[in-house]
Amino acid sequence: MVELKGKKVILGVTGGVAAYKSAELTRLLVKAGASVHVVLTEGGARFVTPVTFQALSGHRVWTDLWDPRMDNNMAHIDLSRDADLIVIAPATADVMAKLANGMCDDLLSTLCLARDCPLMVAPAMNRQMWEHPATRRNVAQLCADGVTLLGPDAGEQACGEVGQGRMLEPDTLYEAICDYFQPKWLAGKTVVMTAGPTFESIDPVRGITNSSSGKMGYALARACAHAGARVVLVSGPVSQPTPFGVERIDVASALQMRDAVMAHVDEADVFIGVAAVADYRPEASAQHKIKKSGEAMTITLVPNPDILAEVAARPNPPFCVGFAAESQSLDTYAEGKRQKKAVPMVVGNLVQDGLGSDENVVVIYDDHGKHPLPRGGKMGLAQRIVEHLSGLLAKHPL
Ligand code: CTP
Repeated sequence: MVELKGKKVILGVTGGVAAYKSAELTRLLVKAGASVHVVLTEGGARFVTPVTFQALSGHRVWTDLWDPRMDNNMAHIDLSRDADLIVIAPATADVMAKLANGMCDDLLSTLCLARDCPLMVAPAMNRQMWEHPATRRNVAQLCADGVTLLGPDAGEQACGEVGQGRMLEPDTLYEAICDYFQPKWLAGKTVVMTAGPTFESIDPVRGITNSSSGKMGYALARACAHAGARVVLVSGPVSQPTPFGVERIDVASALQMRDAVMAHVDEADVFIGVAAVADYRPEASAQHKIKKSGEAMTITLVPNPDILAEVAARPNPPFCVGFAAESQSLDTYAEGKRQKKAVPMVVGNLVQDGLGSDENVVVIYDDHGKHPLPRGGKMGLAQRIVEHLSGLLAKHPL
């Protein structure tokens, strides 16, 4: 995953117990390709040592406004000069008070004043400190100055109290940072989509399903949300975490999936069918567990509705995108499905290339022909698919 490739992020760590979580945030940012430069305040360094952040970021850690390692002695200018983003996590009440008042008596506060890039702060403090009128004033001032506030969360605090003031978890902060860097191709749009397998019940303990992991659908939901869309994700049974900001509706069977989609399709500018919907279901699901008789048994299967085709056949359909997972003749089958289901875009792949794995090889089919995408991680591919669909959507009369 190289979502943040080429991005320089300054991570300010101030003196709160949540500083240990910033080590994980550093790891996530580095893994996503960002160049992370950590600035520790004196308080921050009391909780986590510079060595930890240096090892995780692969860069020297900055603590001193007067650091002699800078030839010109201007660490505050040099560090912020080509930064794409400054994130302060955890941000104490003290650093927020300083920033709100333009004070600069250490390296972090000084480089924030000298910055030419956006600033995000993730507050972390005791709930009474968070609720204090002075902090409320500082928060209002920071927002008025264009600083983005990430959290805080509510919950149990290090002091033993329960309330607002916990720092957001590292993965949530990471999501917010990725989101910030993504172009808002789908701003103002609503995307309704399906993902995962369906489960067609035979009796209370058995059913017919398939091996779809939901990874591609969930990556696409995340990419759509990062691109600024409101995302309604109708999901079959999977063990994937819900992407940040995505409205998830859990269903089991194809009929439930269709009902959930139809309940939201009027809101949709875009419909994306990624789910591996079972083409058939048992004619009836037994009320009680079927007991073995020793004899051969027959289960009568009846066809399920084709959700994508139904959505595409509506009078004013949203822009529809289908997926075609094939085991052979990809071009013929994927383009055939595009024509048959009357959808403007289909994303095809060969099952042997991607099922259940984190990587995939996909080809986009549209009115202009076929567009193979380079092999990549599902998240990177999802972003390219969103970029492609937003380009078609811009030209599409809705
Ligand atoms: N799809 C759907 N509802 C179904 C079956 C499929 O919405 N009952 C959608 C899938 O989410 C996907 C596309 O249609 O976007 C292609 O699905 P696929 O199962 O490959 O196509 P089928 O029409 O079922 O063709 P076949 O089983 O013959 O490959």
